[in-house]
Amino acid sequence: MVQSNPQVSIILPTYNESQNIVNILKLIGENIPKGIHTETIVVDDNSPDGTGEIVDDYISNIKKIAENTIDIIHRKTKNGLSSAILNGIQNAKGETILVMDSDFSHPPQIIPKMIESFKQYQCDLVVASRYITGGNIQGWTIKRKLMSKIATLIAKKGLHVKTKDPMSGFFAFKKNIINELNFDTLGYKFLLEVLVKTKGINIKEIPYTFENRKSGSSKLDNSVIIDYFKSVWKLYKNEKIKTSNEKRNSIRFLSKAARFFTVGASGFIVNYVISTLFTSGLTDFWYIHANIFGIIASISTNFILNKVWTFEDRDFTRKKTLSQFGKFSIFSSLGALIQLGMVFWLVDYYDISYPLALISAIATAALSNFILNKKLTFKEKLWN
Ligand code: GDD
Ligand code: MN
Repeated sequence: MVQSNPQVSIILPTYNESQNIVNILKLIGENIPKGIHTETIVVDDNSPDGTGEIVDDYISNIKKIAENTIDIIHRKTKNGLSSAILNGIQNAKGETILVMDSDFSHPPQIIPKMIESFKQYQCDLVVASRYITGGNIQGWTIKRKLMSKIATLIAKKGLHVKTKDPMSGFFAFKKNIINELNFDTLGYKFLLEVLVKTKGINIKEIPYTFENRKSGSSKLDNSVIIDYFKSVWKLYKNEKIKTSNEKRNSIRFLSKAARFFTVGASGFIVNYVISTLFTSGLTDFWYIHANIFGIIASISTNFILNKVWTFEDRDFTRKKTLSQFGKFSIFSSLGALIQLGMVFWLVDYYDISYPLALISAIATAALSNFILNKKLTFKEKLWN
């Protein structure tokens, strides 16, 4: 039998779910779409009620179905839901991860729809949602409903999360979207962290009805609630630091650009002064020669000013400086070509007035010059 990696890894955290675990494993098995190859990973925290051993027995007694395997991770102590999910993910081989509770609150019947959604909506994350049309909660007390609403509101207002049910424990995602992320394992809010820490991913919410568990009891106690506030605060602070860094980056970028353009203007003066000086009675050069001197002089002063002032590079070792100067000169000539070409093109083909064409051409040439020199001559990141 050819064993290939599963496509979907289903993560199923358990703590004292002895009355639910076998039945939920069966029901999940019945709802896996034909042709989809899955692994289910139970993550058990040494449940005192023997959930772990029950799963061990179940695994050794069932007929092995190659397409859909079941595994268990035995952890030594109760470490919280988020941390269990993370542990499951670290051991998952599937490209897609699906996370759900093991107490029948999350209906396995919608698993096919969740998996299909990736193709159907071209998304990276599917959230099973209680808070969109068609979604519902059954069996919760008013108090519990209110708590959930408040937690959701905090996430939306405080952390600018758009998803309607960011506290959902039922979701699936492409594993690669969390490749570079670090998670804080406090509490229950794994999905919320994914939502805050990923940028520009496509999210699809599909409705479902959450049904309160019939057997066993919820592990969500006051400490989970306190952990929630702690992690929201952490996420909030991180976000603030990030936005202020971004602001600082854009200020630095703009101020460097401003210096670069100031230097460019000074080069224009150098160019003009040298070019006229050398044609004056004093030396009486041919005007073309004088102009060449002017150009060389202005490229040199531009280079030195940009090196020292704009890009704050004080390293004047000969080899490095010469190679920088070489690149700088090439980009300057390139800038001149861009400018010439663009003026010609705007005036001749688009009938734009000469002064306007000149201004846009100079701006384009200066900007591309700035970017090329920032990246290639002075080896800075474009944005930092
Ligand atoms: N391994 C492990 N370790 N599993 C845990 C732990 C833990 O410390 N704590 C809870 N679980 C498991 C439970 O066995 C269950 O399968 C699942 O995680 C959810 O725990 P419940 O205790 O049943 O949570 P709930 O029903 O009160 O909370 C539900 O609503 C929340 C949003 O309002 C869950 O769906 C949460 O995932 C959801 O965030
Ligand atoms: Mn539950």
